[in-house]
Amino acid sequence: MTIIFHRSSREFHLFNDHISYLIKVLENDQLGQLYFGARVDDADDHSYLVENTYRPVTAYVSKDDYSFSLANVRQEYPAYGTSDFRLPALELAQEDGSTVTNFTYKDYRIIKGKPKLPGLPATYVEDDRDAETLVITLTDEKLAIDLELSYTIFANLAVIARNARFINHGTTSPQLTRALSLNLDLPDADYDWLQFSGAWGRERQVKATHLRQGEQSVSSTRGASGHMENPFVILKRPHTDDFQGEALAVSLVYSGNFLALAEVDPYQVTRLQIGINPFHFSWQLAPGESFQTPEALLAYSATGLNVLSQSFHRLYSKHLVRGEWRDRPRPVLVNNWEATYFNFTEEKLLAIADRAKEIGAELFVLDDGWFGKRTFETAGLGDWWPNPAQLPHGIAGLSQQIHARGLKFGLWFEPEMANLDSDLYRNHPDFLLKTPGRRMSQGRRQYVLDFARPEVVDYIHDLMAKVLREGQVDYVKWDMNRNITECYSAAFPPAQQGEIFHRYILGVYSLYERLIQEFPHILFESCASGGGRFDAGMLYYAPQAWTSDDSDAAMRLLIQTGTSYGYPLSSMGAHVSAVPNEQVHRVTPLNTRGNVAFFGDLGYELDLTSLSKEELAQIKEQISFYKRYREVFQHGTFYRVQNPFAGDPNWVGWLVVSPDQRTALYADFKFLNDMNAPYRRQVLPGLAPDLTYRVEEVGKGTVGDFSGRDLAHIGLVTSDAASGVEEATTDFASRLYLLEGSRA
Ligand code: DGJ
Repeated sequence: MTIIFHRSSREFHLFNDHISYLIKVLENDQLGQLYFGARVDDADDHSYLVENTYRPVTAYVSKDDYSFSLANVRQEYPAYGTSDFRLPALELAQEDGSTVTNFTYKDYRIIKGKPKLPGLPATYVEDDRDAETLVITLTDEKLAIDLELSYTIFANLAVIARNARFINHGTTSPQLTRALSLNLDLPDADYDWLQFSGAWGRERQVKATHLRQGEQSVSSTRGASGHMENPFVILKRPHTDDFQGEALAVSLVYSGNFLALAEVDPYQVTRLQIGINPFHFSWQLAPGESFQTPEALLAYSATGLNVLSQSFHRLYSKHLVRGEWRDRPRPVLVNNWEATYFNFTEEKLLAIADRAKEIGAELFVLDDGWFGKRTFETAGLGDWWPNPAQLPHGIAGLSQQIHARGLKFGLWFEPEMANLDSDLYRNHPDFLLKTPGRRMSQGRRQYVLDFARPEVVDYIHDLMAKVLREGQVDYVKWDMNRNITECYSAAFPPAQQGEIFHRYILGVYSLYERLIQEFPHILFESCASGGGRFDAGMLYYAPQAWTSDDSDAAMRLLIQTGTSYGYPLSSMGAHVSAVPNEQVHRVTPLNTRGNVAFFGDLGYELDLTSLSKEELAQIKEQISFYKRYREVFQHGTFYRVQNPFAGDPNWVGWLVVSPDQRTALYADFKFLNDMNAPYRRQVLPGLAPDLTYRVEEVGKGTVGDFSGRDLAHIGLVTSDAASGVEEATTDFASRLYLLEGSRA
């Protein structure tokens, strides 16, 4: 990995074995984008890549000729209003009412490693040899504002991390109304745009469309990244699939309002952007102050979408998730929510915990309903002390009993919220976000705390820290069940109300940071009515997330497949729940529910005390199998080998391979049973060609011995080859294969 500055041509070249990124200081001293993609040769001068032809109905920079217009040139961090008519990366509303800026090249520095972003989540390296960072400083002389654009290239990943920082050295107080994290102008528009959209209970479904002239975007205005859209998009060539072809992706390391956008201009130049959503955003840049954008990640693959996803998986697993739990096997948990909802007693919880221990689970999680006057969703949020009516021995007593059973103890919180029926609200009605003179819209009978205010964060921190300290808590599920409305903070002046959404999420991050520093042994799992804040920002604080409130195995096949495009299996909380399923009333086999949940952080979310002996025995078997291979399930290399969004919608095939390629697990799922089904043969990538793999169908027996090369090219026969008709299985059946490789 290297960063080179070619002084004569004023070009920067960042490259490693996989990718190159080329930037040029243009003739007007603004920054131009020359190339991003597969590694290319270094050269002194790539100025032929500045394509800038005379075009009618265009404005030009120089009064004397028609040779240079910002409308025609590809840029790094463009502004609007000075000959570029496309959407800009920044906008600064100045005291005189103008918005025109001119950020020109000042200097650069190259830093070993990767600096932190204060107060914000970001990727990191532990060893400075693993990354190098280029910081290019631009300046607007009239305003005396510097703009630092940072680019980090990693040693072994096809990823560039970017961010922007504005520093006001001047005397005026302009308002930033657009400050994106990344802008990338690409030389053509022959791309499919992939977004990961949905709603509560059906998050991150893949939606694809071919780019065309104009704009295509996804965004959030909810104060959270949201169930509906995800701050992650892919641009792929039309022929690119999971196994071949070119693609690039951007991901925002941020959990608040975002915008991801592609604008195709009339000359088929694609402008790709991602950052804080400019809608309802402004930031007062007072003299002496600075504004730091969140980090954006840009990845590239020349060999298909699996490789692209694996870059994010590796990056997040090793350079985003932090702390003790980054590399440790994640515990198999039992959660009481779908077993009891609010209706539990200490006795009932301990009965479930007894069963949890018997079946081999490692962590018992007490969900919503243990605090304040929380016997239903109308009361208690904000009062983070145990309710003696539910828990006569408190959290300390319960956790002691759980620990005495040899289980770890986990606890649910929803720190950002309050019910009106709470001591918090009665004592501090001003702690809520609300607009003066307007009604407060309710969601789930709860209201959002003003986390833009440090004293509100302190108040919640102190209550939580007390419970965590006294209760011997090993795991926290941090929930967030409604989005922000009437966003206004009484603590800020009118001119700063556009900052509140961003300040809110900074407050959330600050509380997370304090708690993880004070309780480094706690495993945090983020949650927002399931997958409503499943983003890279959250993974910096909470190594795993509750993927969706929809625990139906069939829906989970789609949700987890969609999520896998951008996020590793170790980040996905995946639980086996009861049938008929609570959310969709579907009945799926226990075997399949287990196989689906294996591909993530396995948990059980059902009333273990009401299961039959046979079911408990089967679950015990599942847990013991998972524990044997969880390193591979959680941290192996994952491949979508049958993708219902891209191929046969009735089939899903997931493969994980251990880093040494000696162990692999392939699961073959179907939705509906087929009549007189076609033959099926599944090629399996990622294995070592020269190893011989003993293939076992888990629970059935040995299938045979095959070389990695044969499995990659001939494949594994997964149909009932003897008769040619579908085996007598049910809808939603699945098969799990274990492949263990050795030298012949
Ligand atoms: C929403 C979460 O997604 C559920 O798992 C559960 O924790 C409930 N909230 C509790 O209110």
